[in-house]
Amino acid sequence: MRLVLVGPPGAGKGTQAQFISAHLGVPKISTGDIFRANVSQGTPLGQEARKFMDAGDLVPDEITIGMVRDRLAEPDAKSGFLLDGFPRNVPQAQTFDALLVEASTPLDVVLELVVDDDEVVRRLSGRRTCRNCGHIWHIDFDPPSNEGTCDICGGELFQRDDDKPETVRHRLEVYYEQTSPLVGYYAEAGILVGIDAMGPVDDVTDRAIAALRTYDK
Ligand code: AP5
Repeated sequence: MRLVLVGPPGAGKGTQAQFISAHLGVPKISTGDIFRANVSQGTPLGQEARKFMDAGDLVPDEITIGMVRDRLAEPDAKSGFLLDGFPRNVPQAQTFDALLVEASTPLDVVLELVVDDDEVVRRLSGRRTCRNCGHIWHIDFDPPSNEGTCDICGGELFQRDDDKPETVRHRLEVYYEQTSPLVGYYAEAGILVGIDAMGPVDDVTDRAIAALRTYDK
């Protein structure tokens, strides 16, 4: 299956991507994760992306699209993928559509996670991510047994720089201005399915998998 997750920052895209990609047997490809890995390795791509990420702005399209094209050319993405965080605006979606048409591999479905803004702020203010395996935790909603340590691999947990309250507010504005038009774009293409992403993580996963069942190939 070729699937895109869309939703505001903190909707739970990364959290659900972990479970859905395992369920479908396709790689989870997160542009945010790829950018963050480049930032922590200090690559030229990371140094460029960091300026935009720290401000809560989108990284320029030409950088992002080239990065995704390279990642999708890797062998594990040949039989499907789950994209988390890309496309992020209509120009990215249009360029991506053209790439997929050229490869005769159109998207099967775009899954929208619907949550309200207050929940976004609650979720992002308590998010902690494992520096080693990337697992996503929450200090209240999904706490690890030992504060600051990942239950899965023992790695150190950290708080993302862009989860500061003022940056979160700006990321939400960027979402409504630039990313939310994708909902109409993909609805018009007839491949959008939306689910209620409020409530416990497991319930959201169940709703997502049920919604995707008709598209699973
Ligand atoms: P990115 O990493 O994509 O961030 P985002 O879209 O803002 O989304 P988040 O990762 O913040 O949230 P999420 O929806 O994945 O939530 P999560 O599952 O972690 O992008 C970061 C930056 O990179 C951008 O600002 C931009 O600069 C750049 N970038 C990336 N892609 C780009 C692109 N295509 N073009 C240009 N620039 C790009 O959950 C959040 C918290 O809530 C966690 O603590 C989790 O445990 C908790 N939680 C999840 N679900 C639930 C639940 N059901 N109940 C309670 N808690 C929950």
